Amino acid sequence: MKNISVITGGCGGMGKAIAIELGKSTSVLLADIDKEKLCEVKNQLETLGIEADIFQCDVTDKNQVKSLSEFAVSLGSVKNVIHTSGVSPTLCKAKEVIMTNAIGTVNVTDAFAEVIAEGGTMINFSSVAAYQLETQDEWIDIFEQYYGSQELFDKLYELVEPFADNDFNCSGMAYCIAKRFVIYYSQMNVNRFAKRKARILSVSPGSHLTPMHQALIDLQPEIAQNQLADIPAGRWGHPYEISSLIGYLVSEQAFFLNGIDILQDGGQTARTFVTQIGC
Ligand SMILES: NC(=O)c1ccc[n+]([C@@H]2O[C@H](COP(=O)([O-])OP(=O)(O)OC[C@H]3O[C@@H](n4cnc5c(N)ncnc54)[C@H](OP(=O)(O)O)[C@@H]3O)[C@@H](O)[C@H]2O)c1
Repeated sequence: MKNISVITGGCGGMGKAIAIELGKSTSVLLADIDKEKLCEVKNQLETLGIEADIFQCDVTDKNQVKSLSEFAVSLGSVKNVIHTSGVSPTLCKAKEVIMTNAIGTVNVTDAFAEVIAEGGTMINFSSVAAYQLETQDEWIDIFEQYYGSQELFDKLYELVEPFADNDFNCSGMAYCIAKRFVIYYSQMNVNRFAKRKARILSVSPGSHLTPMHQALIDLQPEIAQNQLADIPAGRWGHPYEISSLIGYLVSEQAFFLNGIDILQDGGQTARTFVTQIGC
C-alpha cells in the first residue's frame, strides 16, 4: 500500500512547498478550498514528477473534512497529515479567523485521529502570533471545557467580542488566541495519536514569504516594516525553510519529538520577550 501525505492548504505558499518536499518520498493528497487552484498546483507538481491527488475541502465543514479523511484512506496508508489551511487577520474578520484557524484545526485533527497510520505524524500550523499575548487561564479553561462542543466557536469569540468596534484589534486578537488554541489542542491529542502509535505536534512560523504574508506587506506596509525590524535574521523566512523543517519532523529521526510546538521565527520572539545580553 502506498504512503500518503495529506496537505491541507495545499495550494498555499507553505502547503505547496511541503508538497514538493514530501512528494519525494510519499504520494501527496492536496486539499484546499478552491478547485481551480487545486488543478493548477496538481499540474505544477506533476511537471516536477510528483504524483498528486486533489480534494476540494473547506476545513470549517466537519462533513467535508470527514470525506477528505475517507478519500485519503481509500488512496493508501495515511502517513503524514500536514494541516496548513488558515486565514490571516490582515484579510479576514475575527469570526472567520476563529472558524478557519481554530474550528478547522479541530475538524482536521479529529478526522485524522481516527485513520492515521502507525508511525504517522500529524502537524498543525500555529503561528508566532500565539506567543505574542500572554496566555490567560480563561483561554485554557475554554480550550479544555469546550474543545469537543458546538459552543467552542462562541466561547472563543466571546474572548475577542469586547474589541469588536475595532476590526484590526479584534481580528488580530482572534488570530493570537486561535493559534494558541492550535498548539494546545495538538498537545491535548498526544495520547489519542499515541494509541495509534502516531505523533502530533505543531509548528509556529514567523513571517515567511507566502501569499498570506505578501498581503500583509502590500496592505499594511508599516506593520510589515516593524515586523522585519524585529527579526534578528534580518529577512523574511522562505517557504522552503518550513518545508525542510517538515521533512525532518515527519522523519524517523524525529520520532521522539511529540506534543511540542516548534517555533521557527528567525529569533523574533526571543529578542522581543527575553532580556537581551549585549544590546
Ligand atoms: N506566511 C506566514 O508568514 C505565516 C506566519 C505564521 C503562521 N502562518 C500560518 O501558516 C499556515 C500556512 O500559511 P501560508 O502562509 O502558506 O498561507 P497561504 O499561502 O494563504 O495558504 C493558506 C491556504 O489555506 C487555504 N484556505 C483558507 N481557508 C480555507 C478553508 N476554510 N478550507 C481550506 N483551505 C483554506 C487558502 O486558500 P485561499 O487562498 O483560496 O483562501 C490557502 O490556499 C497558516 O495556517 C498560517 O496561519 C503563516
